[in-house]
Amino acid sequence: MSDRLDDLRRRRERVKALGGAERVERQHEAGKLTARERLDHLLDPGSFSESGMFVTHRAREFGMDQADAPADGVITGYGTIDGRLVFVFSQDFTVLGGSLGEAHAGKIIKVMDAALRAGAPVIGLNDSGGARIQEGVASLGGYADIFLRNTLASGVIPQISAVLGPCAGGAVYSPAITDFIVMVRKTSYMFVTGPQVLKAVTREDVGFEELGGADVHSSRSGVAHFVAADDFECLQLIRGLLSYLPQNNLDDPPRVETGDDPARMDAELDRIIPDDPTKPYDMHEVIRRIIDAESFLEVHAHYAQNLLVGFARLGGHTVGIIAQQPGVLAGVLDIASATKGARFIRFCDAFNIPLITFVDVPGFLPGVEQEHGGIIRHGAKLLFAYCEATVPKLAVITRKAYGGAYDVMSSKHVGGDLNLAWPTAEIAVMGPEGAIEIVFRRELSDAKDPDALRAQLVSEYRAQFANPYVAASRGYIDDVIAPRETRPRLISALRALATKRVANPKKKHGNIPL
Ligand code: HXC
Repeated sequence: MSDRLDDLRRRRERVKALGGAERVERQHEAGKLTARERLDHLLDPGSFSESGMFVTHRAREFGMDQADAPADGVITGYGTIDGRLVFVFSQDFTVLGGSLGEAHAGKIIKVMDAALRAGAPVIGLNDSGGARIQEGVASLGGYADIFLRNTLASGVIPQISAVLGPCAGGAVYSPAITDFIVMVRKTSYMFVTGPQVLKAVTREDVGFEELGGADVHSSRSGVAHFVAADDFECLQLIRGLLSYLPQNNLDDPPRVETGDDPARMDAELDRIIPDDPTKPYDMHEVIRRIIDAESFLEVHAHYAQNLLVGFARLGGHTVGIIAQQPGVLAGVLDIASATKGARFIRFCDAFNIPLITFVDVPGFLPGVEQEHGGIIRHGAKLLFAYCEATVPKLAVITRKAYGGAYDVMSSKHVGGDLNLAWPTAEIAVMGPEGAIEIVFRRELSDAKDPDALRAQLVSEYRAQFANPYVAASRGYIDDVIAPRETRPRLISALRALATKRVANPKKKHGNIPL
């Protein structure tokens, strides 16, 4: 027996040595942790249970019969984060460049199937040269098997992808289907077609970082939801993200005792909206003063910054925040912000996370570029997402709610459960300046002093329409409140809506305008 135990120990040690000391050193020199070190930092200490340690590939071609590939380049299993079960796979770049062959894919598939059966999140730590070239079509098949599972698990269990090294070609589509992508600055990149091929085919000369690095994907393409400075920060961020999420779509998000008084009122909120309606203010500040202290986890913080989205806690409950940022493009809705908002809302709805919307929107961004880019189709995504969401929907209009954007942003008409407005709210078809140019065009062109008439008409329009009371008189706004009352009102409404049950008509699936 002791021989056999020694043999087991040796075999385990061999697998745990990854691709060997030299390659591990190269991994460290590149500023990256190894696949096993990453799991150590991601999971609660001692909680990792590995499976498939002794899996090997069966490839024989191109010298693969001689290739030693511990764990076939991917560590798989389950563990806990803050005591909650998660399933994980961690690709090992020190073994055949973390490339994905048949057996490697089989291990990932097994973990995903187990996660779905257990109703627990799955976290993928990606660091791979992509499809294992020596295994040919078996590698492609392996990817497709993973894509299918990513899709079927979507909306059932949270799926989180960390990109911690290369992620290229078709391989990008597994993270892309998952709910959140975290990238690491300088060491990770994602692209469908790499710099060498681009140079040959399109003659574009561009570096890895510039083409598909963390900054590009978190600020320009919107592919990455979060960006981290290094592996440690990335793994901590994932732990933090999970603390807001339920285990699956039948579960509720965990309630956390934050110690912040639900009845707390912040008098500073009463002074936050500038007297001049054209002046911006920082919506982060509004959110910060209303939610539980230090609880905002912003998603897509660097992308489409005219709309803020993220998770927060209110009275200890997870909520999804969607809010215009008046300081960026005056908070208009455009293509990027509409798709950003829609995706976030659909995630929250799938996972029983109530939506809190703060509205200050002058309308949709006008312009040929937006029209030709499909603002009709993309704006419709946001509208569709709000309409179909059945989780509690609470909204606070802080200032402007003009035109179609009023309808879209969680209005009573699209199923808002609680619609509040601050006294500074302006709710109308369009802003005073635009409205009087249309309604009083003739009067203005005939006037002796058009500027004086314009000023008078703007002021009359503002007094008559640019306030919350017309909407409140029709019941479209449930109440007009002092800004300081916002926190207790929202928390009380969340409690009242805790048992909300709404079912949309039965269907195979809707046809969101993609
Ligand atoms: C087999 C691979 C590999 C791959 C890397 N390696 N990628 N082995 N298949 N796809 C091996 C290398 O041969 C090398 O082995 C080791 O991993 C480390 O790679 P290096 O090149 O030394 O590392 P580095 O200089 O850091 O460059 C990393 C890299 C480069 C940029 C990722 O390796 C690369 O370009 N690889 C090919 C990427 C690619 O084209 N993949 C296919 C994408 S298409 P040794 O033994 O020498 O150390 C795809 C399709 C998916 O994935 C389709 C799904 C539908």
